[in-house]
Amino acid sequence: LPLLALTAVLGYLLGSVPFGIVFARLFGLGDLRKIGSGNIGATNVLRTGNKPAAALTLIGDVGKGAFAVILARTLLAEDAAQLAGFAAYLGHCFPVYLGFKGGKGVATWLGTVLAIAWPVGLAAALTWLAVAALFRISSLAGLAAAALTPVWAFALGYPGVLILTIALAVLIFIRHHQNIARLLTGHEPKIGKK
Ligand code: G3P
Repeated sequence: LPLLALTAVLGYLLGSVPFGIVFARLFGLGDLRKIGSGNIGATNVLRTGNKPAAALTLIGDVGKGAFAVILARTLLAEDAAQLAGFAAYLGHCFPVYLGFKGGKGVATWLGTVLAIAWPVGLAAALTWLAVAALFRISSLAGLAAAALTPVWAFALGYPGVLILTIALAVLIFIRHHQNIARLLTGHEPKIGKK
């Protein structure tokens, strides 16, 4: 049990690293929280027009979820891996380094799911890409992908990740409440637009 608690804390601290804030600052783009939606994710970095900074944010935020899972799996076991991935997601949303005011966690969720069960993660990523290609709205793509991923987990024969993917989908919807309100009123900006 102490080891499980340790993985949760480790996952949380890894997830807490706000790559969007870090890269926005490194590229001289200013404080991301004062730009666009104010969110700390790659979607909002892209609103500055800096594609490399957005790509690095995406890689960092996906990577920290995957890294937390792989680290826990290597040190402990599969249930610890799920816990670490879940903790990394919470870390991104409620980061200790930013006064617990973080992001929405779509990239970190994707990294976690990819590392837990890569076929399910691949299906999640393809869902995101398909919806993004159709509608060009990041939040809508994230919401659709999160909602469908438990279905993919079931269909692809990964019942062991059902609870995790359902819990994360619920959290992703809660974190997107402002986006959902904008989507419903037709005010959600397209990818790359302010
Ligand atoms: O992953 C976050 C994305 O779904 C929404 O970001 O900046 O458009 O609120 P944003």
